[in-house]
Amino acid sequence: MNTAALQGTAPSPLTLPDGRPARDAWSLDPGVAHLNHGSFGAVPTRVLRRQADLRAQMEGSPVRWFVGLPARTAAARGRIAPHLGVDVDDLALVPNASGGASVVFASLPVGPGCEVVVTDHGYGAVTMGAHRLARRWGGTVRTAHVPLAAGPQEACAAVLAEATDRTALIVVDHVTSPTARFLPVDLIGAAARERGIPLLVDGAHVPALLAQPLAGVDCDVWVGNLHKFGCAPRGTGVLVARGPLRSELNPLIDSWGADKPFPARFDEQGTLDLTSWLAAPDALDEIERTFGWDTVRDHSTRLAEHATRTVAAAFAQQTGEDHSVEVGMPVGPIRLVRLPGTLGLGPGGGNAVRDRALAELGVECAVTAFGGQGYLRLSAHAYNTPADYDDFAERCVPALTAWARETS
Ligand SMILES: Cc1ncc(COP(=O)(O)O)c(C=O)c1O
Repeated sequence: MNTAALQGTAPSPLTLPDGRPARDAWSLDPGVAHLNHGSFGAVPTRVLRRQADLRAQMEGSPVRWFVGLPARTAAARGRIAPHLGVDVDDLALVPNASGGASVVFASLPVGPGCEVVVTDHGYGAVTMGAHRLARRWGGTVRTAHVPLAAGPQEACAAVLAEATDRTALIVVDHVTSPTARFLPVDLIGAAARERGIPLLVDGAHVPALLAQPLAGVDCDVWVGNLHKFGCAPRGTGVLVARGPLRSELNPLIDSWGADKPFPARFDEQGTLDLTSWLAAPDALDEIERTFGWDTVRDHSTRLAEHATRTVAAAFAQQTGEDHSVEVGMPVGPIRLVRLPGTLGLGPGGGNAVRDRALAELGVECAVTAFGGQGYLRLSAHAYNTPADYDDFAERCVPALTAWARETS
């Protein structure tokens, strides 16, 4: 068993200042168990109302709205920057983490025959973008194999082992999607800088999940989503650029800001509904005011530990096997449990199991695969309670075990 996961007690559910359950701050369907905040986040109702107000302003006077929009976008950046611990002049807004990575892939100077280094934990869509970039360059992608249990030094060494004198970009996840682990982006960043190799860190999950996501991280570009742990309306990504590359970066939509310096040129996106960007700081402030981000991070971490312990034990009862997972550099609020048999590896992969779980069991969860093994990826956030995972263990684990037997 993973002994770390056996420690600690389940936290008490969080409540609103008036004593109601935390979940009342969200409009989540009460008929569904929400154990997958990590995929698409969840937006508090008050933030949705704020976004609706902004939309009403836009519809009320479109000319006034769009003329003033770049200044409002810059002001939103100014409120978001302290939540990330970065300078507002290093911070651009983008639609999402994929869009931020696309900015880098589209903006890098052409490097004929150059190589891009990625890892085997990379987010599929971003890795596909890295492959397209390498094809455009007439170069190749080199994939670093990082063992799931690797600690910081081993993981860093695995990435650097793939770097050659032809490497023109390294792309690593700060928190990985299929395996819910940190990669040592501080170590990788220092080594990449020493070798003069540009580094893109995909920190999609990291804003608000860490209080100071970029502390100690020296990379050329770091991208993240405010619509995951940060609970902002969807379509709110951030791009932080501090190195020599920043003057090369352009938004995906070339518009009237084109001649402005980074990051102001990202504040103009043509005619687009940017109310999610303007409401994003309200989401960050709202969670701080209602619960405190430190409290949410602590609650979610302790709850995810409870989830892992309870669900792994429930699987063990069904199969007689150990379902806990040894993850090097685990992520507090997002954790893995090993699935039985070949579940998650069949046609449609993990998404087929995810979709069946939603349709037949009324539960939102993520199912991933890595190294020929399927995993349940459980998330926890302010609105989750121990009962969510206890119910999953009791009701869903026997069903998933039966599905695994169907496929073996
Ligand atoms: C590591 C990583 N990168 C990128 C993304 C893509 O996020 P988005 O769809 O918001 O661009 C995700 C989504 O889960 C992710 O986990």
